[in-house]
Amino acid sequence: MKQIPAIEIENLTKDFRVGIRGVKLRAADNVSFRVEQGEVFGLLGPNGSGKSTTLKIILGLLRPTSGSCRIFGKNSGDVAVRSRIGFLPEAPYFYGYLSGRELVKYYARMSGVPAGKIDERTADALALTGMTDAASRRVKTYSKGMLQRIGVAQAIVHDPDLVILDEPTAGIDPIGSAEIGDAIRAMKSRGKTVVLCSHLLGQIEELCDRVAIMNRGKLVVAGTLDEVLTQRGKQLAVIGAGTPLTPDLVEKLRERDGLNIESVSHPRISLERYFLENLKNK
Ligand SMILES: Nc1ncnc2c1ncn2[C@@H]1O[C@H](COP(=O)(O)OP(=O)(O)OP(=O)(O)O)[C@@H](O)[C@H]1O
Ligand SMILES: [Mg+2]
Repeated sequence: MKQIPAIEIENLTKDFRVGIRGVKLRAADNVSFRVEQGEVFGLLGPNGSGKSTTLKIILGLLRPTSGSCRIFGKNSGDVAVRSRIGFLPEAPYFYGYLSGRELVKYYARMSGVPAGKIDERTADALALTGMTDAASRRVKTYSKGMLQRIGVAQAIVHDPDLVILDEPTAGIDPIGSAEIGDAIRAMKSRGKTVVLCSHLLGQIEELCDRVAIMNRGKLVVAGTLDEVLTQRGKQLAVIGAGTPLTPDLVEKLRERDGLNIESVSHPRISLERYFLENLKNK
């Protein structure tokens, strides 16, 4: 039997009225996609393309102008469903006088974690986000990246089935981003569904099962990374070091065998990988 999708949005449209004349701005334009249970799903697109608006509608924080949104098969305003969701907003504001640990405990209490479980769940969330060492410091002394991490910790502390993270790695260094990536993988391995907005495309490629790309409020494409990125019409051959593909040889292959060699390149690692391989724990 096919599982109920974690999220199913259909023909979602959201108009805002902006400026003193109340001009209509269509932030989301007839957007439809599904997120299956247990997958990591990336919602991508340029600034202002409607990602955060779509997430807020999914969370029931904004009402759509038209269209529908269901979470685990229920209306997104349903209280029982809301307690199964964790959310990191794109510009989180936290009360600065609490310590990181107090803040995460506060969210645990607010989202219904049983009293006997609060300390354990808090410690887990702090460990998963790499915030254990800084947990006793006041939030107002945190760097930008530490604020993001404590934000992710509060989003996952009640062990939600669906975690929605709006730019969890904004302002975080590459090693911290990788740790957030590890936390996302850990959630996936426990059967959770994660929806993630990010401009870090390298990380999206590494983490996501499927993506949806928005532009100017419209859905451009949705599918697995393979479906979206593979250029079926082209082939890339990687030749081992023993057979150097010198310019002479390339010319010969072209002339003699009529091979259509468009370009010859060396495989390259991403900058993200370089940071991780060369700078972590050094
Ligand atoms: N409350 C609001 N009132 C009026 N316009 C809004 C409101 N919220 C968002 N918008 C507009 O809707 C459009 C989409 O904004 P949204 O925040 O969804 O974009 P985004 O894809 O999340 O961008 P970013 O990558 O910059 O976070 C923008 O033009 C934005 O100015
Ligand atoms: Mg946004």
